[in-house]
Amino acid sequence: MSSAALSFTVEVRSDALPDDQREAVLANPGFGKTFTDHMVLATWSAGPGWHDAKVTAYGPLSLFPSAAVLHYGQEIFEGMKAYRHADGSVWTFRPEANAARFARSARRLALPELSQRDFTESLKALVSTDEKWVPAGDAGEASLYLRPFMFASEAFLGMRPAAEVTYCVIASPAGPYFAGGLKPVSIWLSTEYTRAAPGGTGVAKCGGNYAASMIALVEAADNGCDQVAFLDAVERKWVEELGGMNLFFVQSDGTIVTPELTGTILEGVTRSSIIELAQDLGHKVDERRVSIDEWRDGVAGGEITEVFACGTAAVVTPVGRLAWQGGSVVIGDHDVNGGVGSVTASIRQSLLDVQYGRAADSRGWLTRLV
Ligand code: COI
Repeated sequence: MSSAALSFTVEVRSDALPDDQREAVLANPGFGKTFTDHMVLATWSAGPGWHDAKVTAYGPLSLFPSAAVLHYGQEIFEGMKAYRHADGSVWTFRPEANAARFARSARRLALPELSQRDFTESLKALVSTDEKWVPAGDAGEASLYLRPFMFASEAFLGMRPAAEVTYCVIASPAGPYFAGGLKPVSIWLSTEYTRAAPGGTGVAKCGGNYAASMIALVEAADNGCDQVAFLDAVERKWVEELGGMNLFFVQSDGTIVTPELTGTILEGVTRSSIIELAQDLGHKVDERRVSIDEWRDGVAGGEITEVFACGTAAVVTPVGRLAWQGGSVVIGDHDVNGGVGSVTASIRQSLLDVQYGRAADSRGWLTRLV
């Protein structure tokens, strides 16, 4: 593993998307559909470590069909955003937390670690090159979604950690994650499938976890739901998370509960930020196990007044309904308040206010990119 700091050379493409076409994309970006003009690439080889770090034209990667990632799924990723503040500057949120999780994921997947410095520098290099792709901050929750990832690019079919690995960062202008914008989503409870088991990769942000949750997402859609919730793999009793988001429960006394980290739940950066912000707003926050019966009965009996999901992509998203084979419950306050319960709305607002520079960044969560 190389410890020398990487230097990202910049190869600016001459055929960048014309301004008017880029502005048309930024006016209605959706989520994850369009990508900026450039991307970051770096290579790791056993021995020399990280090298050939650059910003280059966004485009297809050249891989041999024997590349190990295509067979064994040795891959990890992160999700982050670049936010434009009112003065035009561009910032990202807690990159050191994403860098640390990326390093933990790398260790779990037997991939090489990238230093926190190189991780953050790669974001700065890409976002400063593609700065024009960062949407204006006054446009709702528009941002430039950043997707750093790393995969086994070695052309080799033997079962061992790859001796050649590619690191890449791509960027995509983003509006709300859910096509319907900010409105409560419905959740399907998966009882047949689990996402992660003790000792497995649930705590790592690796593609395999998301691949394993797709079938349950299809089941959710077949049952008219937007997202799927997973229970623990051992007792099939404890609420873990959605396929790509953590969950919070607001109780009638104002306490906010979120499933504790068990080693099978992804440690969301948004999740940990909300735990702190909710306390600033005067809420008691409990990290503990939450059973599916507590969720169902709590909603039905009024002890749970709001439920929300969170993640970088979806920010804070109200959950309006939980459905399962044979039943469903509607989660009251989100409907009563015209879509979003008041606690969910205030937490969402306080998070966005920090991210967009409208509130003081008292914890030093923001890093300037441009
Ligand atoms: C994110 O919230 O950034 C994620 O990584 C979730 C992704 C599946 C959209």
